Amino acid sequence: MYKLVINPENKKGHINPEIQGHFSEHLGRCIYEGIYVGEDSPIPNENGMRKDVVEALKEINIPVLRWPGGCFADEYHWKDGIGPKENRKKMINTHWGGVVEDNSFGTHEFMELCRQLGCKTYINGNVGSGTVQEMSEWVEYMTFDGVSPMAALREQNGHKEPWKVDYFGVGNENWGCGGNMTPEFYGNMYRRYQTYVRNYHPDAPIQKICCGANVDDYNWTDKVMSTCFAAPAFLHGFMEGLSLHYYTHPEGWEIKGSSTDFDEKVWYKTLSKTMYIEELIEHHAAIMDKYDKEHKVGIIVDEWGTWYTCEPGTNPGFLYQQNTMRDALVAGINLNIFNKHCDRVKMANIAQMVNVLQSVLLTEGDKMIKTPTYHVFNMYKYHQDAELLDSFIQTEKIGLEEQYMVPNLNESVSLGKDGRIHITIANLSPDKSYEIEGTINDTEIGIVEGTILTNEMHAHNTFENPNEVCTKEFKEYKISNGKLVFTIPACSVLHLAVSTQ
Ligand code: AHR
Repeated sequence: MYKLVINPENKKGHINPEIQGHFSEHLGRCIYEGIYVGEDSPIPNENGMRKDVVEALKEINIPVLRWPGGCFADEYHWKDGIGPKENRKKMINTHWGGVVEDNSFGTHEFMELCRQLGCKTYINGNVGSGTVQEMSEWVEYMTFDGVSPMAALREQNGHKEPWKVDYFGVGNENWGCGGNMTPEFYGNMYRRYQTYVRNYHPDAPIQKICCGANVDDYNWTDKVMSTCFAAPAFLHGFMEGLSLHYYTHPEGWEIKGSSTDFDEKVWYKTLSKTMYIEELIEHHAAIMDKYDKEHKVGIIVDEWGTWYTCEPGTNPGFLYQQNTMRDALVAGINLNIFNKHCDRVKMANIAQMVNVLQSVLLTEGDKMIKTPTYHVFNMYKYHQDAELLDSFIQTEKIGLEEQYMVPNLNESVSLGKDGRIHITIANLSPDKSYEIEGTINDTEIGIVEGTILTNEMHAHNTFENPNEVCTKEFKEYKISNGKLVFTIPACSVLHLAVSTQ
């Protein structure tokens, strides 16, 4: 019997809804086909956005959406994507498959998508190949409410009212595809570019996000923080977030590995590499602490998820992959870890929302399926805007290879806005169930509602069989001597919502 102990009196911090954020890039079939099909499409749409996709995303309360990239962002020139569609420039998407980008999805369309989703907006600006003027004018175009050339242009293009930009990323991966800069050089570029990301609405300021490290590039974090945030104090208004990118490549960057064809060794490798995010967050946070003792700057994990070899027969530049129970575990573990570090992790964006990498939705023509990852987000949505509670779960190490051992269980617990205690647990064993005895200190347990996602590790949804992996009600628990006793099945993610008396 494994013990789970929850201390409701010990609140550890607020879980920003943005921790369950998403990312959509002009890459493969994410934006085009996956989200935007155009007003004239036979696929049911509202102003060009797929109704099935929007409806599914609304169900998981997507809190924030990042756009237009990714690597695409540092080659994107926003003026190409405004005005009458027939006049918009056609260009090559050099990063992703060399296909024609017709710019039919631009700023207005993105804002319309976020309106339909009811989510916050996270725009990623172009530092790599764009000018300061271009970035500054984009911000003016989107947010200025008054007499100005960009506000007039916006009105001319059919939108008199300004939009709200919640987050603005000043470049993406500027250590790589965003210009191959050194941290010192980027740090100075950041200082300059962010100056012109003007806040036209002091009551609703844009949160500026500085490009952070790739994986364990701690030197980047150190140099960028010291250039952009260290004393003198006037630098402290320069950034609200520092990004971090970490993908789970089961077999390493070169080989990656299949999304559906893997053995138990690779299963453990994947989960162990996923758990590494915790060490990354802690180490980067420790460096940030040197400069930012008050935790003014949040870690923004704005790209995370699995990255496999793309599906056979698909364009390698489109990064299309299937999504199995293994991905459900990856999502469950990541989201639990982000919750546990909510004092520093203020946003995280899974890559990517539809048809690219670890998607929550896949589409084929007019069909759409929900992936196992989608179902995890649906179970975890109760953590959004909740208070993290102190919790501990007893674990043992499991695995097949010394360097890829993982704890059998991984959990996080919060007090939700609905007043209930939300417990999410991932069982990392592909073949063993575990009995758990949960104690909620000084609390009488009332009604419990359980939801479980479980199946064989390779199980996934297809267009022929869209509900092979889906959540079910979980009733296999009892309350005994004031404790919550249940058995978590092998290879599963569980959500228990506990009402207290
Ligand atoms: O998500 C795919 C790509 O991964 C993004 O464009 C880039 O930022 C990262 O390298």
